[in-house]
Amino acid sequence: MCGIIGITRGPGTAGRGTDAQPGEGGGVDQVLGVLLEGLARLEYRGYDSAGLALVGPPDGDGMWRARAANGIRSLDDLTKRAESAPRGATAGIGHTRWATHGRPSEENAHPHADCSGRMALVHNGIIENHIELADELIAEGHLLESETDSEVLAHLIESRLAADPGTGLTGAVRAALGRVRGAFALAVVHSDQPDLIVAARRVSPLLMGLADDATFLASDIPAILGHTRDFFVLEDDEIAELRPGSIRVTAPDGTEVDPAPLHVDWDLDAARKDGYPDFMSKEIHEQPRAVADTLLDRLLPDGTLVLDEVRITNEEFRAINKVFIVACGSSYHAGLMAKYAIEHWARLPVEIDIASEFRYRNPVLDEHTLVIGVSQSGETVDTFQAIREAGKLGAKVLVISNVLDSSMAREADAVLYTRAGPEIGVAATKTHLAQITALEILALYLAQARETLSPADARAMLGAMGVLPDKVATALERASDVEAVAEAYRDSPSFIFLGRQVGYPVALEGALKLKELSYLRAEGFPAGELKHGPIALVEEGTVVIGVATRTPVWEKMMGNVAEVKSRGATVVLVANDGDEETARHADAVLWVPETEYLFAPIVDVVPLQLFAYSLARLHGHDVDRPRNLAKTVTVE
Ligand code: G6P
Repeated sequence: MCGIIGITRGPGTAGRGTDAQPGEGGGVDQVLGVLLEGLARLEYRGYDSAGLALVGPPDGDGMWRARAANGIRSLDDLTKRAESAPRGATAGIGHTRWATHGRPSEENAHPHADCSGRMALVHNGIIENHIELADELIAEGHLLESETDSEVLAHLIESRLAADPGTGLTGAVRAALGRVRGAFALAVVHSDQPDLIVAARRVSPLLMGLADDATFLASDIPAILGHTRDFFVLEDDEIAELRPGSIRVTAPDGTEVDPAPLHVDWDLDAARKDGYPDFMSKEIHEQPRAVADTLLDRLLPDGTLVLDEVRITNEEFRAINKVFIVACGSSYHAGLMAKYAIEHWARLPVEIDIASEFRYRNPVLDEHTLVIGVSQSGETVDTFQAIREAGKLGAKVLVISNVLDSSMAREADAVLYTRAGPEIGVAATKTHLAQITALEILALYLAQARETLSPADARAMLGAMGVLPDKVATALERASDVEAVAEAYRDSPSFIFLGRQVGYPVALEGALKLKELSYLRAEGFPAGELKHGPIALVEEGTVVIGVATRTPVWEKMMGNVAEVKSRGATVVLVANDGDEETARHADAVLWVPETEYLFAPIVDVVPLQLFAYSLARLHGHDVDRPRNLAKTVTVE
């Protein structure tokens, strides 16, 4: 998840409605000002590096480009470098990076240039077939300078332009994108056409904005809301030509289309949250994208797992005879959910422990043990120390993290990144779903490496994974129904969450979310264990929330539901769409689409996140910053 910004305003236009750089009379450096201001607003999308490219300055030489990679200080460094930029550019593009392919470094920072240095490009997304394309381009004589998938695009466009100069920049971009698999939002400038920006997208977001004398593009509305309120949405596979005060959009076959207009009257703060009241609801609704991006290009049809950083050979993976998962909080629950999949498919014993407990036992590990550290931040000190300890004991360490180059990622033998984008709300939501997804991919890989699952069965499971983003989206469509259920039980002082098998960690996560956000007593139990103690808590009116989707243990679960109901509990059940039999036993139902049961946690946890969120809002709590909690815990 990176941020893109662009502006074209042509020479000599007044630039009404744009902010000039301080100290620059007449607005001649509005291009630079708009880019730097936009990058500051887009920084939440990643700050591994920042960069910009300008074309058309009268005193410049074609194209001017500057990049900086200095973590949270990247934009400050870039702003300093921009002091020496040539004045009076007619168009420019900027980028703030959240690294996926290639470490955060200046070489890997955008904009990327072609060999001639006359064209520059910014990209957000993932080019799945970049290795194959890079090989072709290198064979053609192109010099690639970075480790990124994005740079390949710049050279591919250059190659198409050289092959057919009459096609123009737009034609070359269209031809290049015809070769590309994956997701992209991109913007391209060329010093030969200094008032033109060519933009295109597939999956990754890109909006255009129009003022009288300038045209803008950005990954989101807030980046350019200070300059225009009239936006146009670029649809998948469309290509746009932006010139000062005009936008021309064409479909993949080249026919002209009218882009859908969007007039925005929100204020900037609301816009940063994309119109959602808080970051948590925005992030909850970004979950289909987080799952889809984490799945993208990970398990190849031949069964190869594409890990981001691998220092474990396939032979070593095959020699694994035990898996040990360590994590904290929601990450621990993600590990617990994946335990079922790894055991079932890969036939490997899986132990799981809370990281702060693991460190102070004497765990039995050796070089045939795979220790998986799960941590969205990659910085949680307990999990970090646990994997360090595991490494010392000779185990192979794999980390699932959402943050590139985090401490844990650097410590591990292999890393599988989740691609949820930065999460601002303290309570984990989209990173949690992305973690479960990554762990399930790993389970399928281990199963294939160990030949415990046939390629055909693995492919069938991958197919079932492919539709998970849609199922999560369907579960999210019921947000207002969930809110109505939360409203009905808003005065309950405590909640009991129950689940069995894969539903058990879902119940634990539902209870954790509820206590984190609403500060109410909420406990999750394995439903079968209830009769050994917790059932003593149940009295008339106790609210029990059960995960009762159609897994192999559904009947057993319904038996446990009957036990609490007969003792006076009010029962809310997570049930599969259309399952009236389950609904008959419930006072209220949270509906979700049915899915392959080992993937069910990814879908079933969604209404429980929404329930906790709604209840906290009904109680007037700050859902983004719950009391006493921190997003990243770096103390023991
Ligand atoms: C904190 C957060 C939780 C998170 C846990 C583990 O407690 O509030 O939401 O699940 O840390 O964080 P990690 O970054 O290791 O996944």
